[in-house]
Amino acid sequence: MSIPSKEKEKIQQLSAKAKTAFQTAQTEKELYDCKTQFIGKKSLLTLARKEIKNCPADQKPAWGAFFNQVFQELSIFYNERQKELSQRSLDQKIEREVIDLSLPGPSFPNGSKHPITKLLEQIIEIFIPLGYSIQTGPYVESDWYNFSALNFPPFHPSRDLQDTFYVGKDHVLRTHTSPVQIRSLESLAPPFAVLAPGAVFRSDSDISHSPMFHQVEGLYVNQKVSLADLKGTLSYFLKKLFQSSKIQLRFRPSFFPFTEPSAEYDISCPFCNRKGCSVCKKSGWIEIGGCGLVHPEVFHSVQWDSCQWQGFAFGLGVERLAVILYNIPDIRLFFENDVRFLKQFSAV
Ligand code: DAH
Repeated sequence: MSIPSKEKEKIQQLSAKAKTAFQTAQTEKELYDCKTQFIGKKSLLTLARKEIKNCPADQKPAWGAFFNQVFQELSIFYNERQKELSQRSLDQKIEREVIDLSLPGPSFPNGSKHPITKLLEQIIEIFIPLGYSIQTGPYVESDWYNFSALNFPPFHPSRDLQDTFYVGKDHVLRTHTSPVQIRSLESLAPPFAVLAPGAVFRSDSDISHSPMFHQVEGLYVNQKVSLADLKGTLSYFLKKLFQSSKIQLRFRPSFFPFTEPSAEYDISCPFCNRKGCSVCKKSGWIEIGGCGLVHPEVFHSVQWDSCQWQGFAFGLGVERLAVILYNIPDIRLFFENDVRFLKQFSAV
């Protein structure tokens, strides 16, 4: 049996009202309120639907089908309007958002080279135009390369001068870059000039010593090589490095087993021009490294004729130079990798 048309009409009117309300809602919130009002749990339509149970039994199926259709239609209508309004609010949001494409992007912290690496590169750049080539050697050296071939006699106290890390009986962590002198003499044809930068190791740690630090070794071999050549080269290098033609160089007699004569070399203090200051400890001079003419025994250890060949060699401590150049109070700062410290050198 069909349902009475009067009641049906009432529901249809309610449904039409709901559609108009959905259509006129201007925001998603408004629309949601309409939904609660018209098809929510306590809405007139829902209440009316619940009345089906009180209908004459023969009308129930028709009412059921009718309400299903009404609710289905309204929910489709609601969903469509909901989509429209959400798209509209998105469009409005995009319109409101002013994107300035000329603004710089987010910045990421830049890494930079370690100050010791930079200084090593600076040193290398000064020597390359002078015809020096770069040579390297292993960190674990045999006793022979690190000591014997460099004319350190066995059991000689000079071996103890360099607090050596032993790796087994016959091997050490190289205590200096001088073993690269031997490796160069073994592998290169004279005349040659080499520079050997790299890490070295000594069992020592305080404000001016670190168990690992860097040295640069220089070796020049030719038929005639003099102390004057050595002094000229070092003087040129140090003037370039300190960017001052006023830098003076002085040699003090010293002893190294692999050079004869041997000297330690100092520069006039670039901070006070020899007047005396805290950096040079009032002496006017700053010690840089050791040098000398290659000892004939060094040539002999690689079967070179020391009557035919001569050479000069020099060594310097890179951290020591950096301490002077950048006025650093504690050498260990270079190895702690504290970004606050390292950051200061990113522009150097
Ligand atoms: N190897 C020496 C050291 O570590 C430094 C040195 C001295 C190197 C004299 C040289 C040199 O080439 O001629 O103490």
